[in-house]
Amino acid sequence: MEPFLLLREALVLIHLIGFAMLLGGWASQAVRRTYTTTLLFRVGLGVMIGSGLLLAIPFPAGVELNYVKLAVKLVVAFAIGGMFGVVITREKAGRPTGAAFWSIGGLALLNAGIAVFWH
Ligand code: HEM
Repeated sequence: MEPFLLLREALVLIHLIGFAMLLGGWASQAVRRTYTTTLLFRVGLGVMIGSGLLLAIPFPAGVELNYVKLAVKLVVAFAIGGMFGVVITREKAGRPTGAAFWSIGGLALLNAGIAVFWH
């Protein structure tokens, strides 16, 4: 097998593990009605952005990437990071975190939808 293709596939796997951490960590908080962030899904977002940026490098030769789509995904991923900040700040101030917390799950699903449906 072509080594660079294998590397791309391994990065997609890591990207999906990041997605599992992000959405799974978020969902486990949501079902407990504890609208705060945890290390698990903060790390998940970092894994997504790191592996996503590496996947944005066009390898192996011949691979076609849609950079408009990837730019939109990066903006949405940064918006999720911003929402983490809002949740943490509001939590420290003892204020409700609900809206920002729900937007994290919504934006994560939006980015997964963009990844799958936008060609
Ligand atoms: C919360 C953030 C993100 C989520 C939920 C997400 C979700 C996903 C999912 C579910 C896939 C697999 C879809 C498939 O292979 O058809 C995927 C693939 C991919 N993602 Fe992400 N992603 C995120 C952030 C990013 C970022 C920031 C980048 C880079 C700027 C990125 C770049 C890619 C690339 C290059 C692929 C390979 C398939 C393709 O070209 O569309 N992702 N992403």
